[in-house]
Amino acid sequence: MDALVVTGGRRLKGRVRASGAKNAALPIMAAAILADGPVRLKNVPNLADIRTMSRLLRELGVRVEREEKSGDLVLQNERPARVVAPYSIMRTMRAGFCVLGPLVARRGRAEVSLPGGCAIGDRPVDLHLKGMRALGAKVEVKHGYVFGSCRRLRGAEMYLGGPFGSTVTGTANVLMAAVLARGTTVIDCAACEPEVQDLARMLVKMGAGIRGIGSPRLLVEGVDRLSGAEHAVIPDRIEAGTFLLAAAATGGDVAVEGARWNDLFALVHLLREAGAEVEHLGDAVRVRAPRRLRSVDVTTLPFPGFPTDLQAQTAAMLAVADGISVITEKIYPDRFMHVAELNRMGAAIRKEGPAAVVHGPRRLSGAPVMASDLRASAALVVAALVAEGRTTVSRVYHLDRGYERLEQKLKRLGARVRRIKES
Ligand code: EPU
Repeated sequence: MDALVVTGGRRLKGRVRASGAKNAALPIMAAAILADGPVRLKNVPNLADIRTMSRLLRELGVRVEREEKSGDLVLQNERPARVVAPYSIMRTMRAGFCVLGPLVARRGRAEVSLPGGCAIGDRPVDLHLKGMRALGAKVEVKHGYVFGSCRRLRGAEMYLGGPFGSTVTGTANVLMAAVLARGTTVIDCAACEPEVQDLARMLVKMGAGIRGIGSPRLLVEGVDRLSGAEHAVIPDRIEAGTFLLAAAATGGDVAVEGARWNDLFALVHLLREAGAEVEHLGDAVRVRAPRRLRSVDVTTLPFPGFPTDLQAQTAAMLAVADGISVITEKIYPDRFMHVAELNRMGAAIRKEGPAAVVHGPRRLSGAPVMASDLRASAALVVAALVAEGRTTVSRVYHLDRGYERLEQKLKRLGARVRRIKES
């Protein structure tokens, strides 16, 4: 297994480009099941999760090829069309569950394994199933699989809010089913995340009738068939945000190219409150941070609130900021697995129910660490970049799920990072 060895203490400086958004690309790939023609996707990052989704789609009879010259991903339905999404694939990547809606809508039937357990806490799929049932699908859960079927879905009004607000992949799943339903569908409390907007725009290119994109109420006018289409996936706001936080933590000066200002408002405000200067430079977002940042309180919320996927990296940055910060998790109350590892590096963070109280500033020092999920691993890298001495971050496969060429990009910003093989 690979590990990253980071020697900290250098200010990050320079320019870096954000890759395509993993969480936009994954459901957009699933949308290929709905298409009658080929789907060509640009700006799809080369990540482990994308390869897993490709494997799942091939299992379902979709040809998926990465064109060598252009780097585009080309997807096309083939015969025989299969409908079983097996546990062996689903246990490694929850986003695979997004094939449920397209399979039932286009092929009339689906057997999709319930996703595997997750290190960031309980992640139910009840809202996905609620939406599918509202559209008239018969949905049963048996032997760890969801069995869905319907001859033709019919439009319906539904409320997709849960105890923690809207659901990102749930909205995507149900939206992909509703576009082929007979009649009108209203999805209320729909997720507004840029990734859901990107999927909706792609579906419109395929011929879907969707209004209200980006708002919490999506109106869908069902159509009989959808064509293939070409689409460029939006840049990854979480990857971009991770670079901005890492830059700020090290007192650096970094411009992230491709970062979309409007997708990063909540982070921009947090960084400014912490004392950094943040500028919108057309196609880039630039952060310039002083040697010492100030503490800030932050609460994660559905978009346009502060993203839970940047919470761990923010904790790492605030560990070295001056004063006490309170971080409250309103999406995944148990998503604090990074706290113990950050504390091993010298941070002073106390978990208090669904919140973490960060006492800064602390001098972090390098240590061998490992994390249990993607964003927690990213937080350890942020901490390692600030820490004195050498940090070995094990289980790099978590990072490889969501960050394309992370060590090369960090190196270009002046970080001392290398990948090693660990036994
Ligand atoms: N929820 C329910 N019922 C459901 C679905 C969700 O109660 O049927 C709850 C969840 O337990 C959570 C909240 O609703 O408390 C929001 O969950 P959501 O469904 O929005 O999460 P998701 O769609 O499974 C996506 C991202 C996650 C990101 C969350 C929140 C993808 C592939 N994954 O997950 O990304 O944390 O939205 O923004 O889009 C990551 O990239 O590291 C990652 C975990």
